[in-house]
Amino acid sequence: MRPAHSPGRSADVLVIGGGIIGLVTAWRAAQRGLRTALADPAPGGGAAQVAAGMLAAVTELHYGEETLLGLNLASARRYPQFVAELEEASGQDTGYRSCGTLAVALDADDRVGLRELHALQQRCGLESDWLTGRECRRLEPMLAPGVRGGLRVDGDHQIDPRRLAKALVVACERAGVTFHRQWVERLSVARDRATGAVLADGSEVATDQVVLAAGSLSGRLAGVPPQVLPPVRPVKGQVLRLTVPGTHAPFLSRTVRAVVRGSHVYLVPRENGELVVGATSEELGWDTTVTAGGVYELLRDAHELVPGLTELPLTETRAGLRPGSPDNAPMLGPSELPGLLLATGHYRNGVLLTPVTGDVMAHVLVTGGLPEEARAFTPRRFSSAPSPARQELSA
Ligand code: GLY
Repeated sequence: MRPAHSPGRSADVLVIGGGIIGLVTAWRAAQRGLRTALADPAPGGGAAQVAAGMLAAVTELHYGEETLLGLNLASARRYPQFVAELEEASGQDTGYRSCGTLAVALDADDRVGLRELHALQQRCGLESDWLTGRECRRLEPMLAPGVRGGLRVDGDHQIDPRRLAKALVVACERAGVTFHRQWVERLSVARDRATGAVLADGSEVATDQVVLAAGSLSGRLAGVPPQVLPPVRPVKGQVLRLTVPGTHAPFLSRTVRAVVRGSHVYLVPRENGELVVGATSEELGWDTTVTAGGVYELLRDAHELVPGLTELPLTETRAGLRPGSPDNAPMLGPSELPGLLLATGHYRNGVLLTPVTGDVMAHVLVTGGLPEEARAFTPRRFSSAPSPARQELSA
């Protein structure tokens, strides 16, 4: 066990980054009795302000990501309880909706791809049902008449990430987390150990443990030894928000998605009438420009899926940065630098993985070790030199 409180420290834990991953880590740590601080100029911001909020462990399954699937499913299972607890703790509605998802095929090629996905899902023991085009349209009458078939996944739900972020900020405040509303200038390291951080105003927060949870920025923090910096890169996603007027008949009753000419497009209908259309996936570094081409492609593909969508007001266009990792899976737990932990690299699954990340990080902060379910996601899997800790893990 780690010491509960070290005298002379301004907190036990400093979380760098106030996106949903940093917030859930801080909330869970504070609930475990750790004096917790969090540094971010605008807590609740980041990729969650752009994300659609699909909890799509089954429909976003990819070949080669079966290990990640286990963590995704563990987090999806926790969602109802997590939301109930968070809403109770914060007094905020998170917009969680257990509405299911329909993935459809628009042409013969898409149908082959979707059949392959169905077969992979079945091999992984997941629940999904193959539907004819007619059955898809019976479920979602706004779908294009040409839809060739689809997969009904009743277990893939959604949440509103903006509301989730807001609820987490309030829950952290109520749990006693200290917010430093400014950038972190650099990590403090003394005698080969992370000891806190220096903030933009020059003040220092001294802690026993530091969690780096800065999303796509996690690979850039000054003061972190280069061999310890997480291999996180920004992957741009452009997202549109449309509004279904109150007078309009229900537009879509569940998330609808497809792969159109090789690009993923999804439509996520909220109860408040918002319809989120996403998302591009672009390797363009730190660029967050919304482009005419990005908006055009999303609207073109979404229109092929649901032609009536062009009548809706387009209320927002935005781009965000997913924190991509080399194997598309997050980095959770101790780094090679004692005192520095990582909670980053969640890539396409940050919203989905929020509940399990909070639990895993709180466990690591209190016990010093990763729980069994998260061992495969140690940041040390990317280290080049074997360390005593890695040998222990693989023993
Ligand atoms: N998980 C949805 C996306 O990354 O676009």
